[in-house]
Amino acid sequence: MFKKLPGDEAQNLVSTTPDTAVVFRPAVLRTPAIITILIFAWRLLAGIVRLIWRHPVALAVLTVPCLLGVLYGWRVALVVVTVLVSLLAPWPFFDRASFNRWMGWRLLAWWRLVWVYRRHWQPVMTVSGLGRNLRGRDYLPRLVKVTCTSWADLVTVKMLTGQAVKDWSDRIEHLAHGFGATSCRVTIARSGRLLLVFPRRDPLATPLPALSIPEVASVGPVEIGRCEDGTPWRLKVHGTHVLVAGATGAGKGSIIWSTIRGLLPAVRAGLVQVWALDPKRMELSYGRDLFGDRYAASPADCADLLETAVRIMQERADRYAGLQRSHTPTVDDPFVLVVVDEVAFLTAYQSDKGLKLRISAALATLTTQGRAVGFGVLAALQDPRKEIMNIRNLFPDKIALRLDESEQVDMVLGDGARDRGALADHISPIPEQGAGIGYVRLETSPDPIRARAGYVCDADIRAMVADFAEEATQ
Ligand SMILES: Nc1ncnc2c1ncn2[C@@H]1O[C@H](COP(=O)(O)OP(=O)(O)OP(=O)(O)O)[C@@H](O)[C@H]1O
Ligand SMILES: [Mg+2]
Repeated sequence: MFKKLPGDEAQNLVSTTPDTAVVFRPAVLRTPAIITILIFAWRLLAGIVRLIWRHPVALAVLTVPCLLGVLYGWRVALVVVTVLVSLLAPWPFFDRASFNRWMGWRLLAWWRLVWVYRRHWQPVMTVSGLGRNLRGRDYLPRLVKVTCTSWADLVTVKMLTGQAVKDWSDRIEHLAHGFGATSCRVTIARSGRLLLVFPRRDPLATPLPALSIPEVASVGPVEIGRCEDGTPWRLKVHGTHVLVAGATGAGKGSIIWSTIRGLLPAVRAGLVQVWALDPKRMELSYGRDLFGDRYAASPADCADLLETAVRIMQERADRYAGLQRSHTPTVDDPFVLVVVDEVAFLTAYQSDKGLKLRISAALATLTTQGRAVGFGVLAALQDPRKEIMNIRNLFPDKIALRLDESEQVDMVLGDGARDRGALADHISPIPEQGAGIGYVRLETSPDPIRARAGYVCDADIRAMVADFAEEATQ
């Protein structure tokens, strides 16, 4: 076997096949020393330029005092550094955001690059199997850069030629533990490059109170909570159907109530109607006065209400036929949001076969034909398996709250979602820490986003009923 060894040893290597006189001796080409020196000098120069370009602040913080010390003595360096530090010290107290943007996150990114990622890069890549050792040479994916946000490290990586995103998404646990993070998410930055997201803390760890009711009546995406990066979590309900899956106590109620809350001004303006189906009688019944006679709890009433919705939808579709292809909410033709809590009680677990068929048919009709004529379904359920919810694929948008099993994540969010970091089965079952937290896939990106819905407590619902019940039921 040939083994590539440094320097002269290669030329002494001899390989022979047993019992024959055939002898192989590797040809050794000597590289002139000047070429080796030039290559190393070029690499050093490129490294320095890259360092100055990527980490100017960290470099200045490190080199300026040293330069001053060498040029003018340590006393001058000490004085200049003390003056600069005292001038800059009030900055984070007065404007923390700008301090973090210009100094804090940049210094932290440099420190994390050097101390965490660069230091552990080779062992983690080798042990996780993302690096390759070919003929004695290590080939490692390239660590391109590290940037920091308030809650996570974003690590850009150049994959080895021929590697697939799946090679990385299969190893998120190796990466997370290797670099001392609780989890890792893999997203594609561009061809051949990945962005690995390593959270440093959980910005969603504390419950979010119910968001204030919007001033403006709108059916546009409804703000229902916060995403992990601090941006608002906006849920689109008009022009789609949404399925919320989560184990018992996962906080499905907070998604339902936050959505209704965000739509209340539009309900008051007559642009939206909320129809409520509450087979468990534990969720929507609390604000039942908001729905008037568009509320049903028993399976028979639910079937009737759904069939009424289908009838109105089809009348509307007849009127629109040949005239318009999409719906704009008006007082005459409002957007109808059919909210169904625990939908499996009406379908899979329904013992009355006739009712079960009627309800399933009505739900399937609404979800297949309702989108363009202003009918949307927001359904919640505990178990996302196909046997329980055979029409789950008719819901274009899905939310995975806390789930019991890892396989359920891909059932809700689609293939590969868990591998890319949608760890819905790892969400804490302690309500304060995990209820209302879920993963969503936005239309714009295949990568799952982690978000938490605001918690609409009983007092909030009572206040909503007191303020809006009268107009909502007209
Ligand atoms: N967004 C939230 N933030 C913080 N805590 C929440 C949130 N949503 C719910 N909770 C807490 O979790 C508990 C359970 O929530 P909820 O009833 O909405 O769960 P669920 O998914 O509907 O459960 P089930 O399937 O049993 O009806 C609530 O009583 C509340 O204490
Ligand atoms: Mg519930």
